[in-house]
Amino acid sequence: MNYFIFTYGCQMNIHESEKIAGILENMGCISCQEFENADILVYNTCCIRETAEQKIFGHLGLAKKLKEKRRNLITIVCGCMSQQDGMSEHLRRKFPFVDIVLGTSNLNLLESAVNTVLNERKRVVDTEEFSAADSLPVLRTSFPNAWVNIIYGCNNFCTYCIVPHVRGRERSRSMESIVEEVESLLQDGYKEITLLGQNVNSYGHDRDDGSDFSKLLDILGNLPYKYRLRFMTSHPKDLNEDVINAIACHANICNNIHLPVQSGSNRILKAMNRRYTREHYLQLIDKIRDRLPDVGITTDIMVGFPGETDEDFADTVELVKRVRYSSAFCFVYSRRKGTPAYSMENQISKEVKKSRITQLLQVQNEITKEISYGMHGNIYEILVEDKNAKFKNTYCGRTESGRLVNFKCDVNPIGNFVKVKICDSRSATLWGELITEE
Ligand code: SAH
Ligand code: SF4
Ligand code: F3S
Repeated sequence: MNYFIFTYGCQMNIHESEKIAGILENMGCISCQEFENADILVYNTCCIRETAEQKIFGHLGLAKKLKEKRRNLITIVCGCMSQQDGMSEHLRRKFPFVDIVLGTSNLNLLESAVNTVLNERKRVVDTEEFSAADSLPVLRTSFPNAWVNIIYGCNNFCTYCIVPHVRGRERSRSMESIVEEVESLLQDGYKEITLLGQNVNSYGHDRDDGSDFSKLLDILGNLPYKYRLRFMTSHPKDLNEDVINAIACHANICNNIHLPVQSGSNRILKAMNRRYTREHYLQLIDKIRDRLPDVGITTDIMVGFPGETDEDFADTVELVKRVRYSSAFCFVYSRRKGTPAYSMENQISKEVKKSRITQLLQVQNEITKEISYGMHGNIYEILVEDKNAKFKNTYCGRTESGRLVNFKCDVNPIGNFVKVKICDSRSATLWGELITEE
């Protein structure tokens, strides 16, 4: 049977789709390029914002049409959206062509669910919370990078966020199993490992065996391979000096921190339940820059949280100008049922949200442009990760600080570390000339 996976949402989901592919391939299924040729269609979903959900509901229509032609098509919905309160019931009633609904930690049930549909033509719905499914087969698709989960779930309950509701409480893997997985990936030739967690800094706190994020970084930083270690996401209330020191002490831990600020206003940060202040955040940025002068800092920012005034928004813009992020993911607040912010007063109008996001993007684009320009003439080591689909003989890779650089090369260098000299830039896109190849 052929399978096709639609993946929505964050890196966590991209990695989970690799697990879904691993399970299906183990069952003898084969991946196909066009969803029209699939016997099994998987929707690995996200519900972080309403736009994500609308897109998925739109795409589900494709399965409905396809099923009219291919009666034996198996349609599977899994991931965060299916774990929402009432969603499996909604899918059951409104999308009768969906055969299997699985929650965010039920992938271990995928094989038996597919077999049940095949053999008994019965629908399977299982969104039971929250088993640990750690030893699943994985079909990796992001060479030279490999994603590695270190902690599942989230305990933070930011008032706008659906993630703790659909991913459950924090569950850390053991240090041994993480180190074992990373070592085996490095032996297989992977050149970059990205550790994943909603809040990597709370790694280990739910275990009583002394596991801790900076300890984990120290162990991984000492592995005797030429490789790069990245991690995301860090929470500003938890990122501590031990972690900054670990980055400074180990050459293979990248000088690159994703540190979502969400807002520059103390009032809004409080209403968001972020549990840090603007002052704490700015001090943390100073500490990081003191210790890691070449660090690339990126962030997530939200505009239009309930009650956000022009002054609050001005605080955010001012913070962005002060920190000078190398890039920022900017979002418009989206109301999520089941979260406290859903029922807060003073929801912000669409127009105001739109005007704020436009202003914020302009400010950040200007900063990114200036930082890019400042890199002209410098030489960086990059890890080549992909072909540039638009241009012939053109590849791209990242600097240690996380900036993507395009360059021309006659042979395929994917997976190699190469040196490039930056010669041009357009906002976030850098262009370089190849200098040496290892
Ligand atoms: N665990 C990470 C990322 C969570 S989701 C963290 O704590 O930063 C990624 C980003 O989506 C968040 O950082 C936030 O900026 C955004 N986001 C989350 N909920 C949202 C909502 N309801 N509306 C708009 N953006 C949201
Ligand atoms: Fe959501 Fe906050 Fe948890 Fe991040 S830390 S996943 S924003 S609740
Ligand atoms: Fe990720 Fe979306 Fe779930 S951002 S954790 S896939 S809600």
